[in-house]
Amino acid sequence: MNAALKTPQVSTRIADPASVDAAIESRFSARAFLPRAVEREVLEDLLRVAARAPSGTNTQPWNVYVLQGPTRDALVAKVCAAHDALAANPALANDYAESYDYYPTQWVSPYIDRRRECGFGLYSVLGIGKGEKDKMHAQHQRNYKFFDAPIGLMFTIERVMGRGSLLDFGMFLQSIMVAARARGLHTCPQAAWNHFSKIILPHIGAAENHMLVCGMALGYADESALVNTFQTTRVDPLSFTHWVA
Ligand SMILES: Cc1cc2nc3c(=O)[nH]c(=O)nc-3n(C[C@H](O)[C@H](O)[C@H](O)COP(=O)(O)O)c2cc1C
Repeated sequence: MNAALKTPQVSTRIADPASVDAAIESRFSARAFLPRAVEREVLEDLLRVAARAPSGTNTQPWNVYVLQGPTRDALVAKVCAAHDALAANPALANDYAESYDYYPTQWVSPYIDRRRECGFGLYSVLGIGKGEKDKMHAQHQRNYKFFDAPIGLMFTIERVMGRGSLLDFGMFLQSIMVAARARGLHTCPQAAWNHFSKIILPHIGAAENHMLVCGMALGYADESALVNTFQTTRVDPLSFTHWVA
């Protein structure tokens, strides 16, 4: 069980509301990290804070695996090799099916348009043109190196849990990403790993009744990397908010 909170939650005042907004707004998907280590105490503190995320009936369905050093490097080597093998032989796709349908099976507007904008935007910052398959493969493979972040996180959930628990999980993930910002760290959530759960789950020692939710790169972002200048847009809140009269 969690230790009791020292301050009564109801009377907590946020001394600097702008910092909370800054932590949320400065989060972005970093895709280049420095080799600088992250101290274990920092990671523990980050996960303690993130664990305050809400979940239906307080089920707290999350499991986190922290990979660093040789265990991280060994997973990177295995998955990069599988990714290369898959590119060479697309028939292997059945072996590397996603752990669950993260994306829709049928894309429709406006989501497909936003997806394209995101992909084209990223590749244009990187100078990767349409049809440059080798460059695209190499950039995609950066995922499987955690974009050089020294810390790789893997998240699993017990298969028995319902769809709502994935909602809870999302809140936990966002809490990690925001709490990371408060500590000068950056993140990239990564569904790309979900194709390789067959390799990942045994590597991290997850039980067979667990499903891989996603991975996440965590570390200090490389501020000199071009890829980290890529900024995504957001639609106007008025376009998704319905003020019901
Ligand atoms: C659950 C989840 C999985 C994601 N998977 C990947 C991924 O595998 N690789 C990647 O480069 N970005 C991944 N992203 C990042 C999204 O592309 C990114 O959040 C989106 O384009 C918005 O940009 P921003 O995070 O920089 O604000 C993922 C994001 C989420 C929330």
